[in-house]
Amino acid sequence: MDSDVLISTTQGGTPAVVAIDPVLDGDWWRTAVIYQVYVRSFADGSGDGTGDLAGVRSRLPYLAQLGVDALWFNPWYPSPLADGGYDVEDYRAIHPMFGSLAEAEALIGEARALGIRTIIDVVPNHISHQHPWFQEALAAGPGSPERERFWFHDGRGAHGETMPTDWVSSFQGPTWTRVTEPDGTPGQWYLHLFTPEQPDLNWNHPDVRTEHEDVLRFWFDRGVAGVRIDSAALPIKDPTLPQLPLDPGPGEHPHVDRDEIHDIYRSWRAVADSYEEPRVLVGEVWLEDSARFARYLRPDEMHTAFNFALMTQPWDAAAMKASITRTLAEHAPVGAPATWVLSNHDITRPVTRYGREDTGFAFDRKRFGTPTDLDVGTRRARAAALLTAALPGSLYVYQGDELGLPEVELPLDAIEDPMHFRSGGVDPGRDGCRVPLPWTKDGASHGFGDGDALPWLPQPRGWGDLAVSEQADRPDSMLTLYRAALARRRTDPDLRIGRLQWVDAGDHVIAFRRGDRLLSLTNLGSEPMALPDHRGIVLASNPLVHGALPSDCTVWLDVEPGAHSA
Ligand code: NOJ
Repeated sequence: MDSDVLISTTQGGTPAVVAIDPVLDGDWWRTAVIYQVYVRSFADGSGDGTGDLAGVRSRLPYLAQLGVDALWFNPWYPSPLADGGYDVEDYRAIHPMFGSLAEAEALIGEARALGIRTIIDVVPNHISHQHPWFQEALAAGPGSPERERFWFHDGRGAHGETMPTDWVSSFQGPTWTRVTEPDGTPGQWYLHLFTPEQPDLNWNHPDVRTEHEDVLRFWFDRGVAGVRIDSAALPIKDPTLPQLPLDPGPGEHPHVDRDEIHDIYRSWRAVADSYEEPRVLVGEVWLEDSARFARYLRPDEMHTAFNFALMTQPWDAAAMKASITRTLAEHAPVGAPATWVLSNHDITRPVTRYGREDTGFAFDRKRFGTPTDLDVGTRRARAAALLTAALPGSLYVYQGDELGLPEVELPLDAIEDPMHFRSGGVDPGRDGCRVPLPWTKDGASHGFGDGDALPWLPQPRGWGDLAVSEQADRPDSMLTLYRAALARRRTDPDLRIGRLQWVDAGDHVIAFRRGDRLLSLTNLGSEPMALPDHRGIVLASNPLVHGALPSDCTVWLDVEPGAHSA
């Protein structure tokens, strides 16, 4: 596209290229590459073993050079960290261990000067039990207006000793906890779809609605470009609190995807649209029903929502191609772009997942000691990275995936994730993908921090070999592959906005053309595949062998305009 303008800037000695596309810039989120920053584990500027905003600020040139358009920060607010910060105590401040509000403002501005926008996390379904609202509700007692902001309810049974419903938590176990009333007697129960430290809010209460809209404005006024909405299908509950039906139809589940939920996001969209540069809403919507999923993306609701379907597929061409096709089809009617996600802070790292016998992803199948072939997994993760970078829509990269970090099996006494504890210790939980990043080969924390402090989660043996310093100049490294793929995606209009057309290249190959000249082929078969006619090789996830595309490899080919059309 000849309207692309390339501007070269230099940050701390690192040349960065910022592409500005006047046509697309207003709709940047349609094609953006969004890098997920789990602050606690990204970079430690203060040297206390915990990542922080100073660390992120010092690494902005790295992110600019990687070629990302936006950063999504997991919750960075004050929190007792009962669930990694998804238990927010104060939405208008920064957790002291991460820094200050002034630092967050500086970070937002500095990133933007490099052409990188900021997306923050909001968690409407629940807050921390330490939040003043919940503390006030506990103190005020049954029947009080303070309790109305939550789901306090009397128990069943003669003495209220049985919880109001048998709903099961997303983290396993019950969803209700009984409180001791101010007078010392066993009292009401409150609802928490996650841990007891995360009481659910009552979205029928006007305070809850106005407070969240005010929080959005608070951050939008500080230059935040958008929000990622946590557990976005959960906030509305059936107020009659029925038991779970055996097989609830669309909209019939008592606490998932209720029809009334869309009013919330319509109001949020109005807030987002009231800014000169409209802010963006990104939903975490886990729903199998694609028609119901698409409803969140109607033009007056969210801009995009995470598409987890591809990530959960096994390493199988037919299953993955079917998933991509379904995803594109379900987005088309509402005019929203698809998102492509290979992992995040909740999910087993791709190089580990794809190196296992069961290459799909299911929370309830995570176990310690699962045999893993990291060579195979890394090959496939490289192929998957190029495959997803070639798909139309926006792309998410979870920190450390660009280094090919594996899932870490942590010592039991290091694990903090409530999912581990609530599974009775059977599920390793999610901390294995949250281990602090290695920046240098040596050092007490492999350059995560400068000093001698050990990182908050232990880094395993060999972590330094995966460090940024070790990968930056190696042509065959994962980091080099990511940099090359994102640079190409940024500057090649076919890749970014070209139409996708499927190409038939056999049962084990995912093949499609983007725009006129780009052909992407991913070989999931066991045999190498001869390349079709092409003018040149743009990028390959692993070296070709005698000119053929090996197993578990993706190649982008430059082809004659219109060649290999379906
Ligand atoms: C989804 C988040 O990604 C996860 O980390 C968190 O535990 C739950 N929502 C609850 O907030």
